[in-house]
Amino acid sequence: MTSPAPASAIASGKSAKPDARPIYVVNGPNLNMLGQREAAHYGTSSLADIETQLQACAKAKGVRLVFFQSNEEGRLIDCIQDAAVKARALIINAGAYTHSSVALLDALKLLAVPVVEVHLSNIFAREAFRHHSYISAAASGVICGFGAMSYRLALEAVLAQEQAA
Ligand code: DQA
Repeated sequence: MTSPAPASAIASGKSAKPDARPIYVVNGPNLNMLGQREAAHYGTSSLADIETQLQACAKAKGVRLVFFQSNEEGRLIDCIQDAAVKARALIINAGAYTHSSVALLDALKLLAVPVVEVHLSNIFAREAFRHHSYISAAASGVICGFGAMSYRLALEAVLAQEQAA
């Protein structure tokens, strides 16, 4: 026997069943070097530190994360294509591919779920070539300039957007 949906869920018209699909967090080139690279732009946390913090935050919210990093464009595309069939949302820091990759943009356009673009640094306060992002055209929103916190804000944004939908 299935238990009835809570009144709040009925009132809002939303299903009370939690979404078991993971949120993918995809990281591009050189982000494996965080902690050792240009601390003035990227801070001192390693990518493993960021993953640990984000996993803790996700766990507290009952959300599953798939965390992925690659320096190779093709592997990032494979991961995004995988997310297109399995993910509930995708958070991406594409690193320098942000400013060069039409292929990543095309892959992100496969997703029917929210995509949030993140950057640790404020790309608009840096060199002109960082001001343009190819992938923003496929994103629901962009969060940049808050260091490691950008990832947590992106997770909050995804969950808030789901609530509002
Ligand atoms: C970055 C910004 C990009 O311009 C740069 O190439 C990176 C990191 C960021 O998180 O601030 O590798 O995406």
